[in-house]
Amino acid sequence: MLTQTKTAPEAVTETRSNSIAFYDFHPQFDSMLSEVWQGLSETPKKIHPKFFYDARGSQLFDQICQLDEYYPTRTEVAILEKYKQEIAELAGEYAALIEMGSGSSHKIRILLDAMQPAAYLPLDISRDHLISSSQRLAEEYPWLDVHAACIDYSTAWKLPYRAEKGQKVAFFPGSSIGNFDPEDAHNLLKEIAQLVGPKGNLIIGVDRVKDKNILEAAYNDHSGITAQFNLNLLQRINEELDANFDLNNFSHKAFFNTELNRIEMHLTSNIPQYIKVAGKTFFFEQDETLHTESSYKYSIENFTQLALNAGFKCKQIWSDEKDWFSVYFLQVN
Ligand code: TRP
Repeated sequence: MLTQTKTAPEAVTETRSNSIAFYDFHPQFDSMLSEVWQGLSETPKKIHPKFFYDARGSQLFDQICQLDEYYPTRTEVAILEKYKQEIAELAGEYAALIEMGSGSSHKIRILLDAMQPAAYLPLDISRDHLISSSQRLAEEYPWLDVHAACIDYSTAWKLPYRAEKGQKVAFFPGSSIGNFDPEDAHNLLKEIAQLVGPKGNLIIGVDRVKDKNILEAAYNDHSGITAQFNLNLLQRINEELDANFDLNNFSHKAFFNTELNRIEMHLTSNIPQYIKVAGKTFFFEQDETLHTESSYKYSIENFTQLALNAGFKCKQIWSDEKDWFSVYFLQVN
């Protein structure tokens, strides 16, 4: 149970329980309306993928990760299982393990068991999810020092922990780096390099360029969960921003853009239609698309170069037998 709350300088709220310290940097979404208005005013129309993750979106996302067609999750888990001892050796003793977006409860347990780090620092934008998952972990791992921080990478925050003996090791699984455009991916990697400091490490999972059919199937599953996930964005906007999207008039569309090496997810307007969002009206032509997410795929060469440009060298790369997915152990130069 969380017991005591105090407000630190910088408006950080710190709450302590037996084994968890929780730091709330109060990330705020008061910009959701202006961001949605802005995105719908652009040509082509777009909405930022961070808005996918309301309660239902997070639930659908967990289902995606279990789909037959969605190979990345199980492939990454198998790589981590197979090479966890090597990973632990590279990370060294007394590591502070920092999880970027603490959504992947199974993956982090593999690393906690193998590494036995001195501290675990989950970072997440979703407060409720962060609290419940770190409390569960603290109960399962009573020896573990847990410092959870609710943050948005785009607002001011700092790591609520000083590593005393070991290295800082960040963990960024799920090929989430692929959901950033190359320039943003570069900037995020640079920020992670600063966060972990000189000789600090990053363990990062990255999906690879491969046969277009395999890639496209992963984002067009037969049971239609990915379509529901994509459409849920409109449902959320209806509920939270007083909009009138009719979900029957939009279709999920995902395809591999071979030139840019990325899966693109869109919502296509089935008919010409006007949509109202909090009093503002937007027109969709028939077949006009709303771009909701990209998922970049990287060859080993391209990702190694991206990492290098951001100040990391590659200590080790592990892949599955089919070379569909890779986990990199990077170190700040
Ligand atoms: N980052 C992963 C990927 O791009 C997971 C993911 C993020 C995802 N958003 C998604 C998967 C939307 C399917 C649909 O594959």
